[in-house]
Amino acid sequence: MKLLTPSAAGQLLRDGGVVAIPTETVYGLAGRADSAAAVQKIFEAKGRPANDPLIVHLADLEQLPLVASDIPHQAWELAGRFWPGPLTLVLPKQPAIPDSVTSGLATVAVRIPSHPIARDIIRSCGFPLAAPSANLFGRTSPTQLSHLAPELTEAIDGVVDGGPSTVGVESTIVALLPGKPPAVLRPGGISVEELQEVVGPLQLPASATEATSQQPLLAPGTLPSHYAPRTPLYLDASLSPQLRQQLQQLPVARLIYGNPQQSEQQQWNAVAERYLSLDSSTEEAARNLYKMVMELDSCGAGAIVADLLPEVGLGRAVNDRLRRAAHR
Ligand code: TXA
Ligand code: MG
Repeated sequence: MKLLTPSAAGQLLRDGGVVAIPTETVYGLAGRADSAAAVQKIFEAKGRPANDPLIVHLADLEQLPLVASDIPHQAWELAGRFWPGPLTLVLPKQPAIPDSVTSGLATVAVRIPSHPIARDIIRSCGFPLAAPSANLFGRTSPTQLSHLAPELTEAIDGVVDGGPSTVGVESTIVALLPGKPPAVLRPGGISVEELQEVVGPLQLPASATEATSQQPLLAPGTLPSHYAPRTPLYLDASLSPQLRQQLQQLPVARLIYGNPQQSEQQQWNAVAERYLSLDSSTEEAARNLYKMVMELDSCGAGAIVADLLPEVGLGRAVNDRLRRAAHR
């Protein structure tokens, strides 16, 4: 793993390299959005299917017209309120963005990250950066440098350390397309409640339990199975009595939200426990989610048993990731 300064990373990226960079949501795997070669290298390093498009990251609002066209007033309103930050907008794309970035779609996903190092790197590169989350395809996203997979860091030109990601789940994706109502394609670091204060009612995605491979997917990458640790993860609330009994025979790792009842805890032979938020804060839970799943994944348990959060605030995003991690 080659540790780079932000300015060295900017230089490498300008020349078509691929670098893992910090953002406030999760670490990203970045390359110039106008370089088909860099974009191809990103897909290869992640093992990501070509039909799953990338988000383009800007340093400043002035770069938006470089990548998107037909920008509606709601986009400017949302940008004014939430950028820089964990919100991605899907808009009609400009020809400068290669088809490989958008998987051939006529639209492009864009955001301005708030992490100061990410913005410095984009600025010094001189062009917006395409960047998916820096996980191997289907696996848990990294929120700190030490959680990047070695297979991935070996396949790229370097990494930049920006400390732990403060939001902890990926951005909320909102599509704003001509002739269509505004729609949330993926819950994330900005809550639906906050978005609705700015744009009014929003179409919401089906939850991962309702999504099937038969349904057309809203955001092509929001597959029913995703974000999974290697240790099988189960949702406590959806265990059948038989499965519960089987799991009770195993050493399990528990992912707990809020302050647990003693009686609920005693049923498990827990070798490790992590508390997403003892204060029942959905923001704190989001910040801890991937880090704690990664930790529980390496504690030798036979299964991870996780609590769901209430479906409010960032609870939606956390539950979405947990449901996809548990799907099989
Ligand atoms: O917070 C984030 O969004 C992180 C950081 C690195 O910025 N990035 C991230 O990227 O989560 P990724 O590639 O893991 O997820 C991008 C999602 C995928 O589900 C993809 O299908 C969707 O964005 N997407 C990208 N372009 C799209 C488009 N034109 N229309 C609909 N969905 C799109
Ligand atoms: Mg991802």
